[in-house]
Amino acid sequence: MADKEVDEHTGVETTGHEWDGIKELDNPLPRWWLYTWYICIAISVVYMVLMPAWPGITGYTKGLRNHSERANVAAAMAELEAGRDETLKRLLSVSSVGDIENDSELLQLSMAAGASLFGDNCATCHGSGGQGFAGYPNLNDDDWIWGGSFAAIQQTIRYGIRADDPETRLNLMQAYGRDGILQREEIIDLVEYVTSLSGGEADAEAVTRAAPIFAQTCVSCHGTDGKGDQAQGAPDLTDVIWLYGGDRQTIHETLKNGREGVMPAWNERLTEEQIVALAVYVHSLGGGE
Ligand code: HEC
Ligand code: HEC
Repeated sequence: MADKEVDEHTGVETTGHEWDGIKELDNPLPRWWLYTWYICIAISVVYMVLMPAWPGITGYTKGLRNHSERANVAAAMAELEAGRDETLKRLLSVSSVGDIENDSELLQLSMAAGASLFGDNCATCHGSGGQGFAGYPNLNDDDWIWGGSFAAIQQTIRYGIRADDPETRLNLMQAYGRDGILQREEIIDLVEYVTSLSGGEADAEAVTRAAPIFAQTCVSCHGTDGKGDQAQGAPDLTDVIWLYGGDRQTIHETLKNGREGVMPAWNERLTEEQIVALAVYVHSLGGGE
């Protein structure tokens, strides 16, 4: 490139590149472009000094400002959490659901906390909407085995039912057949009797034969009219809501082999606030009493 060639029309030097007779002029870059570029370089240098920028093998350059979006989020979460904890602490001093219903912030927070705790701890047995399965009661209806008051629900959650806790709710439906307490025929008659209690069609003679057996053996828990007793966790046998099932075969199985449904105690696994929040949630699910 010994001789610089100058374009005769513009008087500008060419770069010496030529394509099909078209030559490239060697104009300087526009000033505005060049200065913008320099400014960008300056900004990026300042940025790299101040902010996290370069990845390394074990970490990254932290920058002089030590900025971390992750830490900011964590701090914001902690602040939010602390505010929530403060609100949830108020749950410890409430004695009735009325107290909570009048406190919309507390109600909202305990419902949200209760719903999420329910999903994590209770849904496996009671279903995600609390609808229950055979042997695992439906918590959506207003039929309660142990009581649906705010206090009763809390007690059930705290200490469980037939659970490994000294305060747990206890009572059992004995294995009348397996343990030889009643004869085979008596159980067959009682199945008819229990069926008749909830209005099912039953063999009238068997019902008559079973009445005195029921009066003698079953009323101490299920009541003279079979309506059950929440204090003892004995289900109402007159409604058509069954814990285990109301078909003859299931009733027979209940009477023959007994039932001992177990609900775990949560007082050591959950905090007091969490238990109260769960009780608020469960109470709201169905007909809390
Ligand atoms: C391992 C299964 C299991 C888990 C987990 C479980 N439960 Fe239960 N729950 C039961 C069973 C079984 C019963 C019925 C016990 C009986 O036969 O009396 C019950 C009964 C109840 C009752 C009493 C219902 C009534 O009609 O009186 C409430 C309230 C309840 N559970 C709430 C909860 C809550 C809240 C959780 C989560 C913290 C939970 N349960 C977790 C099995 C479970
Ligand atoms: C000592 C108290 C007690 C006595 C006595 C008793 N039961 Fe029960 N019964 C219970 C309890 C508690 C349950 C619930 C068991 C559970 O939750 O696992 C129950 C459950 C049942 C169920 C199942 C209900 C359902 O919803 O699935 C039937 C049916 C029943 N009992 C019938 C009888 C009959 C009939 C007798 C008399 C032979 C009788 N029981 C005597 C306490 C008793």
